[in-house]
Amino acid sequence: MVMMKRMFFALPLVLVICCYSTVTTLAQSPAAAPAEALAPSTPPTDIIRILQKAGGFTTLIHLLRTTQVSTQINSQLINSNGGLTFFAPNDNAFSSLKPGLLNSLNDQQKNELIQFHLLPTFVSTTDFSTLSNPVRTQAGENPDRLALNVTSSGNQVNFTTGIVNATLGGTVYTDHQLAVYQVDKVLLPRDFFVAKTPAPAPAPEKTKASKKKSAEGPAVPAADDDSAAVTVKQLNGMFVSFAVTIVAVAAFLL
Ligand SMILES: *[C@@H]1O[C@H](CO)[C@@H](O)[C@H](O)[C@H]1NC(C)=O
Ligand SMILES: *[C@@H]1O[C@H](CO)[C@@H](O)[C@H](O)[C@H]1NC(C)=O
Ligand SMILES: *[C@@H]1O[C@H](CO)[C@@H](O)[C@H](O)[C@H]1NC(C)=O
Repeated sequence: MVMMKRMFFALPLVLVICCYSTVTTLAQSPAAAPAEALAPSTPPTDIIRILQKAGGFTTLIHLLRTTQVSTQINSQLINSNGGLTFFAPNDNAFSSLKPGLLNSLNDQQKNELIQFHLLPTFVSTTDFSTLSNPVRTQAGENPDRLALNVTSSGNQVNFTTGIVNATLGGTVYTDHQLAVYQVDKVLLPRDFFVAKTPAPAPAPEKTKASKKKSAEGPAVPAADDDSAAVTVKQLNGMFVSFAVTIVAVAAFLL
């Protein structure tokens, strides 16, 4: 009878310990996995290095860095299968802008300007004739404010935004995942020049998120760790109270 009582007392404890260790292992294993996946086998593509090597893109490089779109491009290249196409205005293109125009843009507009030069797919020189207008850029889909139209004939590729007409100058870089083409003008979207209808505050965009990241260090992984830790802590708490209850009930019954 004493033996029975002991078993009755011990069984819930064994169950609790088993369940507890299983759940703890399950909670920890997903966090461990990404660390291995991060180790790169080949040096990743770096848009800044490509433009530095080509030369004549000082202003563009500065903009890519201050908006942090360079970081976004590099990580998109790691994570996306469709590739990217980047129309790169050189320093001459920037110096032919209306004086003061670039400085008049706020951070969100500078980000939009660079995204407007990015297509979320790899487009080879022979693919331009297959694009349908307006072409979708990473600035978003607004045919009235963010239209980028491409026309091509033979080797010649022209762009119009409704504000600017530009011509594709040549291939800066291509690796079948990223294509970088020089353009002779900065592609200014109509969005900068037509009055905005009053709208709800713009949704928090990548500019803000990535800025915050740079100010506070790598915030995103930390936040993930925190939430995982909270979950494990909550589970710990749950199992401790569960165990205490079982033991109390068992003691009471005996
Ligand atoms: C491109 O624009 C130039 C003028 O800048 C024009 O002469 C040429 O015909 C255009 N080509 C195409 C394919 O639109
Ligand atoms: C772009 O092309 C579309 C479709 O052909 C046309 O409706 C639109 O007016 C064009 N926009 C510009 C700025 O050329
Ligand atoms: C762009 O080209 C079109 C003709 O293709 C012309 O009507 C328009 O005025 C040009 N715009 C600018 C800003 O040069």
